[in-house]
Amino acid sequence: MSLFLYLASVVVCVYVLLFYGVLKGARCLSSVCLKGKTVIVTGSNTGIGKSTALEIAKRGARVILACRNKEKGETAAFDIRAESGNNQVLFMELDLASLKSVRRFAETFLNTEPRLDILINNAGVIGPGYTEDGFDLAFGVNHLGHFLLTNLLLERLRQCYPSRVITVSAHLHRFGNIDFHLLASQKEAVSNQSTWHNFQAYCNSKLCNVLFTRQLANQLEGTDVTCYALHPGVIYTELCRNMSQWLQLLMMPLAKLFFLDPKGGSQTTLYCALQEGIEPLSGSYFSNCSLYKVGAKGVNDGVAKKLWEVSERLTGIGQINQ
Ligand SMILES: NC(=O)c1ccc[n+]([C@@H]2O[C@H](COP(=O)([O-])OP(=O)(O)OC[C@H]3O[C@@H](n4cnc5c(N)ncnc54)[C@H](OP(=O)(O)O)[C@@H]3O)[C@@H](O)[C@H]2O)c1
Ligand SMILES: *[C@@H]1O[C@H](CO)[C@@H](O)[C@H](O)[C@H]1NC(C)=O
Ligand SMILES: *[C@@H]1O[C@H](CO)[C@@H](O)[C@H](O)[C@H]1NC(C)=O
Ligand SMILES: *[C@@H]1O[C@H](CO)[C@@H](O)[C@H](O)[C@H]1NC(C)=O
Repeated sequence: MSLFLYLASVVVCVYVLLFYGVLKGARCLSSVCLKGKTVIVTGSNTGIGKSTALEIAKRGARVILACRNKEKGETAAFDIRAESGNNQVLFMELDLASLKSVRRFAETFLNTEPRLDILINNAGVIGPGYTEDGFDLAFGVNHLGHFLLTNLLLERLRQCYPSRVITVSAHLHRFGNIDFHLLASQKEAVSNQSTWHNFQAYCNSKLCNVLFTRQLANQLEGTDVTCYALHPGVIYTELCRNMSQWLQLLMMPLAKLFFLDPKGGSQTTLYCALQEGIEPLSGSYFSNCSLYKVGAKGVNDGVAKKLWEVSERLTGIGQINQ
């Protein structure tokens, strides 16, 4: 019995040490005040996005919750206003799985909001499914929707310099690939919707996030708009809600023990959005509130440029800019 107690306490100690020493991660220490600034956070009705929006609201910014579901978005706005004491928090409808909705959001935003200081591309999904325009869900939402959104808002960001674009990627981008043959046929690999395919498509979309940030930084060089990609940590959220039931059951105990909460998950996003002096690192990848090595496929400028051009064609953005 005492041996059992001994073993149990060793296990608890190891867990506590592991959790607080290794897993817990760094905190964003910036105390920057955001009064008078406007920040958009996509996918901010739950998870990491909601926590990010709350922390930003606490710093006094006007915060736009860009979410697809009106009821969930309004509820989150209510919660955040109550908890932060900041009444400048509002919901605006954005469904990243519809390019039409992205255009409508941008139009409404540009017509009603004079400023944009920080754009946080946070929303993300793991399939199954397709977007309204027929793209693989992860590619369409995580990359293409945010690509269009950022481009439509770029002029406003330029006017409000210094400004930033933050895109939430993931370490899983290392397992990603970009198949330009498939993209040339208009769609990502859309026929196979197995669990494995959905996971692969998610990794691919997170690689797109890294390459998008890289190319955006190249194009913005010499301006006072900077951009950053990041890994938020391994966080217990609703991200895997559409994966198979048994996989979720299997993951539950692990998630409860080892995954961080959304507040922990918002720290690196906050760091990229607020930390002073990181401007020379525009285009880079961050994790645990510091610069982090990006995967081998995430450093290729040629691929980044090509992905940008393909994305312009797929969203029709080229025609708008000319
Ligand atoms: N959790 C992790 O361990 C982890 C690790 C690495 C990276 N990430 C990244 O962190 C980001 C946030 O994820 P999370 O973990 O907080 O997941 P989450 O709890 O599932 O939150 C995702 C958010 O994205 C929104 N969203 C999904 N599809 C959308 C669409 N078509 N249009 C607009 N919004 C949409 C969701 O809205 P609804 O509630 O309406 O669906 C939700 O607000 C994602 O980019 C994810 O890839 C997470
Ligand atoms: C994260 O950073 C903190 C402090 O900066 C450090 O103590 C911790 O070990 C780091 N965690 C990981 C997983 O790198
Ligand atoms: C999807 O891919 C899996 C694994 O590669 C394969 O076993 C399955 O037959 C494929 N399904 C379809 C519909 O192509
Ligand atoms: C994903 O899960 C949500 C909530 O559990 C559900 O409403 C939605 O229909 C699911 N989507 C797919 C494509 O399975």
